[in-house]
Amino acid sequence: MFPNLTVTGGGRGIGLSLARAAAELGSDIAVLDMLEHPHDEFLSIPDEFTVRAKYYRTNVTDMGSLTTAFDQIIQDLGRIDNCVTAAGIVLDKPFLDTTWEEGTKILEVNVLGSYFAAQLAAKRMRDQKTGGSIVLIASISASAALPTQKLGIYGASKGAIKSLCQQLAVELGPLGIRVNSVSPGFIETEMTKGLAVTNPEIISAFNSATPLQRIGKRQDLKTLVGYLLSDAAAFTTGSDIFVTGGLHSGHL
Ligand SMILES: NC(=O)c1ccc[n+]([C@@H]2O[C@H](COP(=O)([O-])OP(=O)(O)OC[C@H]3O[C@@H](n4cnc5c(N)ncnc54)[C@H](O)[C@@H]3O)[C@@H](O)[C@H]2O)c1
Repeated sequence: MFPNLTVTGGGRGIGLSLARAAAELGSDIAVLDMLEHPHDEFLSIPDEFTVRAKYYRTNVTDMGSLTTAFDQIIQDLGRIDNCVTAAGIVLDKPFLDTTWEEGTKILEVNVLGSYFAAQLAAKRMRDQKTGGSIVLIASISASAALPTQKLGIYGASKGAIKSLCQQLAVELGPLGIRVNSVSPGFIETEMTKGLAVTNPEIISAFNSATPLQRIGKRQDLKTLVGYLLSDAAAFTTGSDIFVTGGLHSGHL
């Protein structure tokens, strides 16, 4: 269906579960993350699905690091067919207290890191003349303010991702490169566990406030992203798709 997938932020969390899902569909995977080692879940992927799985320690806010990783992927896997940008960080902090440094860091990782990873992937797809599919991980916070959280700068960064999706879909469409984004709601990962340390009531809040009355699991995203990366979505580009348990429509 698709020979390979490059995932930023795939060392753990949502990115890793999407890499694993692509491997399950027969795709080689290239995982980029700043973690020294990917989560153990990564290690079993090649044997479990008989695919190649490569890990590249990369900082998506450093163009040199990103470029080196993409060059190495071409050497190792020969091509880039699909790309998911999942590397991201969050800040749950009141607008009135957020500093310039905190804001800059969020924007560098979430916006510029996604922008330039997508650019490197698209350049390769253009040179290959194969087309391809790019999925940007946005967030419900780009479209709705969530109960109990203060996500001003994070929401702004994810709003930029939704906008980027539309801009790139139009610019890259003639090259056969599709670009879509996914906006998850509250998904159980290390990121949200971290948020719960300083804001413990969010777990029960999202379990009760979400229309489907539960927090999302990483697996809730995998079939959708597999679809967007595959030829089944050949006429789908420039779309943002919510996976929120209904939270983007309202809360209880
Ligand atoms: N978990 C949620 O509820 C939720 C909801 C909406 C959107 N998202 C988005 O989904 C994506 C994945 O989040 P997650 O919940 O899996 O979090 P996570 O913290 O488990 O995973 C994020 C990964 O990004 C990596 N990363 C961070 N900065 C990086 C950098 N500079 N260079 C390279 N890698 C870097 C981290 O090392 C980590 O492995 C993020 O973009 C996040 O904003 C998450």
